[in-house]
Amino acid sequence: MILIKLGGSVLTDKEKSYSFKTRIAKRLLKEIDESSVDEFIIIHGGGSFGHPGAKKYALNEKESKNSIEGLSKVQLDMRRMNNRLLELMQEQKMWGVSIPGGLATSFEDGNLQKINQDLFKSYLSLGAIPVGFGDVTIDTERGITICSGDDLILGLSSLSEKAVFVTDVDGIYKGGELVRLFERDMLPLKEGDFSRTEKTVDVTGGMNKKAEKIFDISEECETHIVNGEKVGRLRKILDDERVISTQVK
Ligand code: IPE
Repeated sequence: MILIKLGGSVLTDKEKSYSFKTRIAKRLLKEIDESSVDEFIIIHGGGSFGHPGAKKYALNEKESKNSIEGLSKVQLDMRRMNNRLLELMQEQKMWGVSIPGGLATSFEDGNLQKINQDLFKSYLSLGAIPVGFGDVTIDTERGITICSGDDLILGLSSLSEKAVFVTDVDGIYKGGELVRLFERDMLPLKEGDFSRTEKTVDVTGGMNKKAEKIFDISEECETHIVNGEKVGRLRKILDDERVISTQVK
């Protein structure tokens, strides 16, 4: 099974609220469909649907305002985004099923404690395509927290052969150069090492926390970061072809 994370930066314009990049999303789905991979899970992030509200209501902070209004609104925003993707999938006869991240996980103090892997596995065994997504959820310490798409990938990584993070940059940069093999001792990343757009409205812990999570994932399965704005790269990485990207090890 392959995990594909469609990052908020490639599915939305992070600087414009609720701006879903339909054309890119359609092409990425087509690349997945045309690849030789037949068992996969799609996970998507929040982008300009999830992050602005999560920030406004401080949903990812220790002292979150515990806002029920925020919980309700950001949940709806994420479900709207998820519907957009599922509609595009149906147009291409890709039979996706929606799995809200918050309903498949439990969190304590902002950290993933448990994930219901069986839910994903059951849909896979029916032949459906599970589509999980970042969400607002219950936290046993904080009341409310954010479950990111990366948390879902981490929770499912032990089931997977490969995880592919699809973003809007070629991979990880260090000092202006693309890093082809990214290793933990290259941390911490500094300003400008990752993507410009990823930095604009990211409430889920900043780049280094995100990078740490990606290293944890890479301990379970082969892990790559690839630019989804460049035609054909996702398809190639799914088919194990050489392509401009960063492998995380
Ligand atoms: C964020 O998920 C989910 C919410 C803000 C509700 P991610 O952190 O995985 O989203 P992206 O991919 O960075 O946009």
